[in-house]
Amino acid sequence: MRRIALPRTTFQIQVPTLYRCQVCPTYHIRSPDRQSRVCLIKWCAPFLDEPLVQELFPVMNKILTIAALCCLIAVSSLTLAAGDPAAGKQKAVTCAGCHGVDGNSMNGEWPKLAGQHVKYLVKQLQNFKNMERVNNIMNGMAMPLSQQDMEDIAAYYEEQALQPGVADPALVEQGRRLYQGGNLESDLPACMACHGPNGVGNPAAGFPSLAGQHAQYLQTQLHAFRAMERANDPAMMMRNVAAKMTDEEIQAVSSYIQGLR
Ligand code: HEC
Ligand code: HEC
Repeated sequence: MRRIALPRTTFQIQVPTLYRCQVCPTYHIRSPDRQSRVCLIKWCAPFLDEPLVQELFPVMNKILTIAALCCLIAVSSLTLAAGDPAAGKQKAVTCAGCHGVDGNSMNGEWPKLAGQHVKYLVKQLQNFKNMERVNNIMNGMAMPLSQQDMEDIAAYYEEQALQPGVADPALVEQGRRLYQGGNLESDLPACMACHGPNGVGNPAAGFPSLAGQHAQYLQTQLHAFRAMERANDPAMMMRNVAAKMTDEEIQAVSSYIQGLR
């Protein structure tokens, strides 16, 4: 193959270094030749005695305002595309074989979806589709779904009533203690702190409902988080929790959650 000699490009991009602001807990940019010690964010404005900051402050302000506006537009367009449960029911026909017609699966390998929050369901389907959550079956099932399909299917499942399960009487006490109080010795946080006292989670925060879920499925997920095989939890929230759990604790808490209602 003949090589074509291209003229060398001469411009260089100087990557600015980030340093912590000395006034507020954010970062600011400091280029090697221009020293400044405060960030370019609004609340440091009273400290604007540095030439670089004075120069860049109006520009930064404009960028921040535009970014805020973009966020607003993105949020409002998301709420506009709310799911249609009736359409979702039609689209969920292919899911029923495993998850049950009404989202109450009969097999412990397949999670119950009935009553689960829309936001969490949509996130999982997106994660399966873009392979952030790895599972052969679900990666294939989510692949053809559009954003609207996901919203519709999630809206359908959220409306369905969950059929609760029962806990193993031999494990329920240990499970309850872990769920409500964690484990001080291993620094394990209480599940209740995020998933709520009754296990219904927190839709806005993206904490899923767990109550009544199959113990077998819960165990699989906790083991997967602990092994870092499931890695789609924001800020490693669940990987950090599961890392502190023993097999025995996983079994007990899963059984307790299956009986929660
Ligand atoms: C062949 C069986 C099967 C079919 C069909 C199937 N799923 Fe799943 N689904 C699973 C399994 C197994 C898991 C658990 C995956 C894991 O362990 O990560 C799962 C997990 C999920 C989850 C995550 C639940 C949670 O609590 O995190 C959602 C959401 C989901 N499926 C939705 C769907 C939708 C929507 C369809 C239809 C388009 C579908 N599934 C079809 C087997 C199936
Ligand atoms: C700091 C908050 C927090 C704490 C504490 C916490 N969780 Fe979670 N948990 C989450 C979040 C967030 C998710 C959803 C991750 C995602 O988006 O995929 C989750 C997901 C899960 C799932 C997967 C659910 C599903 O349907 O696939 C299980 C199981 C779970 N948590 C169990 C527990 C148990 C058991 C404890 C206590 C030992 C616990 N969690 C403590 C935040 C928390």
